[in-house]
Amino acid sequence: MNFKNMPNHLAIIMDGNGRWAKKRGLDRIHGHIEGIKSLKTIIKAVMEYKIKYLTVYAFSSENWQRPESEVDSLMTLLDEYIRIELSYLIENKIRLGFIGNIVKIPEKSKKALLDAADRTKDFDSLFLTLALSYGSKEEILNAVSKTAEDLKQGKIASADINDNLFSSYLYTSGMPDPDMLIRTSGERRISNFMLYQIAYTEIYFTKTLWPDFRKKDLIRALQDYEKRIRRFGKTDI
Ligand code: IPE
Ligand code: IPE
Ligand code: MG
Repeated sequence: MNFKNMPNHLAIIMDGNGRWAKKRGLDRIHGHIEGIKSLKTIIKAVMEYKIKYLTVYAFSSENWQRPESEVDSLMTLLDEYIRIELSYLIENKIRLGFIGNIVKIPEKSKKALLDAADRTKDFDSLFLTLALSYGSKEEILNAVSKTAEDLKQGKIASADINDNLFSSYLYTSGMPDPDMLIRTSGERRISNFMLYQIAYTEIYFTKTLWPDFRKKDLIRALQDYEKRIRRFGKTDI
């Protein structure tokens, strides 16, 4: 498959796991387990298409409000996913990173995450970022407060505050903004994901539930992206 333009940074809101399970009369966790299979397939396809950055929304700051049993199962799945996939990440020279308020993540899963991030830190064939305990409003407020602190200490001057400097205080510091954002499951909202970073991102909504989202669905999304004309406020001629 050849595409005329490809996103350099693809972000995905992986939504619809619970509905996938419900449709089959299964417990929601089975939707999350199946969703991991989609993630693995999409990582492979993204590598094949040489997309450099893949950022996936796995758990939001609001998702902590779900029933304790679902939160516990998701944290256990996270831990298992990282342990099982670490050798694949290393073999394929994938750098694993994360964005979000991970202090809230239970110790065991956090340790697995930090360990995997450390062991893959020198790789650059794909920058895979998990958004975990992530909330964009929280990220922006946190960046504002760090900026204010640095101003107070005289490390920066108010005239220095621009997009570049402010971006360096966000969790996504050093990463380019997403070129394309896919949200599965039919919901047409952003749900507190990368609000600052998606100012000029091409957004693609699909009704496909995340556990059903496989390579053919990614191809369809990329074919749609190929046709978009990105103007960034300018004229295209
Ligand atoms: C997305 O699927 C995964 C997480 C938010 C952790 P959901 O669990 O939100 O599934 P639906 O939206 O209820 O179907
Ligand atoms: C967004 O999905 C978060 C993730 C996919 C991790 P939600 O299912 O939490 O979003 P809402 O509640 O439908 O907006
Ligand atoms: Mg959902």
